Amino acid sequence: MYSLEDAANASTVGRLAEEAASALRRRDGQALHDLCLSAGTARAIIVDEEGVALADSLSLLNGQLIAQPEVLAALESGESQKGRYIVREGDSTEPAFAGFVAGERAVSVYAAPVGEDGAVCLIADSEDARQAILRVMWRVLLIAAGAVAIALVAGLVVARWVTVPLRRLSAGIESMTRGDFKTRVEAAGHDEFAQLSRSFNQMCDRIQHLDKARGQFVSNASHELRTPLSTIKILTQTVLYQEPMDPVMAKEFLGDIDSEIDRLNSIISDLLTLVSLDNDAPVQLKPLNVGQLLDETTRRLQPLARERGIEMTLNIRDQIPVSGESGQLTRVFYNLIDNAIKYTGRGGHIRIECQRKDRKAVIRVADTGIGIPAEDQQHVFDRFYRVDKARSRETGGTGLGLSIVRQIVLMHGGTVYVSSDGLNKGSTFTVELPELS
Ligand SMILES: Nc1ncnc2c1ncn2[C@@H]1O[C@H](COP(=O)(O)OP(=O)(O)OP(=O)(O)O)[C@@H](O)[C@H]1O
Ligand SMILES: [Mg+2]
Repeated sequence: MYSLEDAANASTVGRLAEEAASALRRRDGQALHDLCLSAGTARAIIVDEEGVALADSLSLLNGQLIAQPEVLAALESGESQKGRYIVREGDSTEPAFAGFVAGERAVSVYAAPVGEDGAVCLIADSEDARQAILRVMWRVLLIAAGAVAIALVAGLVVARWVTVPLRRLSAGIESMTRGDFKTRVEAAGHDEFAQLSRSFNQMCDRIQHLDKARGQFVSNASHELRTPLSTIKILTQTVLYQEPMDPVMAKEFLGDIDSEIDRLNSIISDLLTLVSLDNDAPVQLKPLNVGQLLDETTRRLQPLARERGIEMTLNIRDQIPVSGESGQLTRVFYNLIDNAIKYTGRGGHIRIECQRKDRKAVIRVADTGIGIPAEDQQHVFDRFYRVDKARSRETGGTGLGLSIVRQIVLMHGGTVYVSSDGLNKGSTFTVELPELS
């Protein structure tokens, strides 16, 4: 705004300086005065080479020395000058403004030399422009302050939105770390934090479940170990303190003790197997032929089946290569066939088969034995789970065989499941292993 006015005033003062040249030389007071009046609302003063006013559009300063710095500078340097002032009415130090301003105003002063003969001075009121600029400045200031305030509030809101759930989560993690597995965090909403909180809660569920399972496992294991130990204790005390003891009977007791020790041994070795599988001991996977492993295992167990009066057949329909650890996979097949023999009565049949389906090796061990009730089927793979506790005890089972099977199959990227039509309708265990491509 100032610059627009500036340009207009500068051109006015330039025009006046040009037009004043001849009148100034002639010292034609009237012509100079008329020229001053042509400056419009601005005050025009024309001075001689000494700075003495020859004409003033307000006719107040004629004959007076105009000691305005711009005028003196223009006379001296021969170049146009410009200045800006805030002037208070009655300010005696600046005579050029006398009678021009009322109250406090912004004033612009322009001075242009007229050859060597003098100079033209134009004094323009720029208060309106100043006020306009002040108004704009205030508006900009207000907008900036508003923007800062909005940014501040928004920042606080965002910070709250971010920190509250984060703080909640970190408190949850801390309490989880301290061992409080019941910890859960609030997970309302659909944003990323809610999602994170839900994932955290799921992880807590899993850890709590694992913790419970671990406790259960320890208590089950202790229980399983205690039973043969109690039996051994009773048998030993009987042999020790029963007087007199028939040597035949004593030998029989010692035989029982011996078999209980065997049982303890097998439980402990199963437990050790499970622990080593749990620790994710790296499996040395090698290309294997499933049919061959099944053949070897079946051959090993055939005498046992024959002794129990069970007919066992093996049918290998496809030769399928898989990637696996032969010792572990043999253990899987051994446990499944061993179970089939254990839980099938005299005169029963066991069918073992192996075939390819959807790029998988599907191994089935089907028996015509005692079967598994529907409600027990999902639990038989749990550690220490036995359908008929008393009966399995007779057969010497601990309920670890199938959990070992499941663990090994999972480590080979496969699945294992059971189907049975119920009690005395036989059971079929199916193992699926990915075919080696
Ligand atoms: N072929 C089967 N027919 C009927 N029940 C079965 C069969 N296989 C397993 N079960 C049931 O599942 C339970 C768990 O089997 P698992 O092999 O884990 O343990 P186990 O045979 O009792 O003992 P071990 O640890 O010596 O194998 C068995 O106790 C039995 O009740
Ligand atoms: Mg078993």
